[in-house]
Amino acid sequence: MMAWTNRPYRRMMRRLTRRTLLYTEMVTTGALLHGDAERHLDHHPDEHPVALQLGGDQPEELAEATRMADAAGFDEINLNVGCPSDRVQRGRFGACLMAEPEAVYAMVAAMKAATAKPVTVKHRLGIDHQDDYDDMLNFVDTVGPAGADRFTVHARKAWLQGLSPKENRNIPPLRHDLIHRLKRERPNLQIEINGGIRELASAQDHLHHVDAVMIGRAAYERPTDLMAADPLLFGEAAAPHATPRQLLDALAELVADEVQHGTAVPVMLQPMLGLFRGQPGARRWRHVLGEEGRTARDPVAVLKKAAENLQGEWLDRPLVAASSTPVPASVAAAHPPG
Ligand SMILES: Cc1cc2nc3c(=O)[nH]c(=O)nc-3n(C[C@H](O)[C@H](O)[C@H](O)COP(=O)(O)O)c2cc1C
Repeated sequence: MMAWTNRPYRRMMRRLTRRTLLYTEMVTTGALLHGDAERHLDHHPDEHPVALQLGGDQPEELAEATRMADAAGFDEINLNVGCPSDRVQRGRFGACLMAEPEAVYAMVAAMKAATAKPVTVKHRLGIDHQDDYDDMLNFVDTVGPAGADRFTVHARKAWLQGLSPKENRNIPPLRHDLIHRLKRERPNLQIEINGGIRELASAQDHLHHVDAVMIGRAAYERPTDLMAADPLLFGEAAAPHATPRQLLDALAELVADEVQHGTAVPVMLQPMLGLFRGQPGARRWRHVLGEEGRTARDPVAVLKKAAENLQGEWLDRPLVAASSTPVPASVAAAHPPG
């Protein structure tokens, strides 16, 4: 997610869950091929598994960008066919490509030829008046033979004119049932559902119908809920840092490490604002990080000061045990292995 799933966010998420798949922000082929590639490919070894999302429409450029992403160590390359922003449409990529499944076939085929890693596609139910179930079926039936390893479907259509990207994430109705039907009718395709899934309990339900679940906004707004993902969805004994207090220690180490990397203090603290939401002291935590994080030079000190506001037994209680029924959780882009 643009401006959200940056390196500090992804590294923070890895302290909450090891097994989920994380995604980068979308990187355009132009930015990779003609811009600061090192910056766009920057990620830390502890982020794996991590997918790089590409935006583009030229098969040769996508192939080259895929080779670069592969060489940089990303575990999966994802093609964005879901973004409806004007800027993206002007570049003729993102959601408008849903109108051209043959062109997307050529793009995915070129990307597949450039890497042995999974090449996946993120798209919408449809666009504008091309929004029947059969239009989506035609899209995946056309693109699938290029070798797409997974289709991640945001379960809403997008209006390319008249709605902002934000409105396009909220106004068109969610049709999870159509994604379930897609998996039923195309059982050999790997289908990941996305859109409006805010709790791990809900993700668990969807996993009875599809292969994987992607959670976007909820994973940013309520990241701590993700501490339940590894035990609940992947059968691990616990989260990487089982209690909030252990997590806080791990975050202090992380922040100190990002300082060495040269990451700006507000950028590294911003993803942490939503941690511990709903717990005693969480508002003060958020306030201190947000306010003092803007100008502070020592992010570890800010983190410690913010953490002083967190009080109570819950700090030493594994969150997973506390959240067995129902599970309040969110997954940045979580899917089961395979
Ligand atoms: C700030 C923001 C940035 C986003 N950027 C991207 C992006 O770069 N690529 C993409 O495929 N989707 C992007 N999305 C859409 C999400 O991946 C997701 O499809 C959408 O928010 C619906 O899922 P959710 O209800 O779980 O959030 C973005 C969403 C938000 C809120």
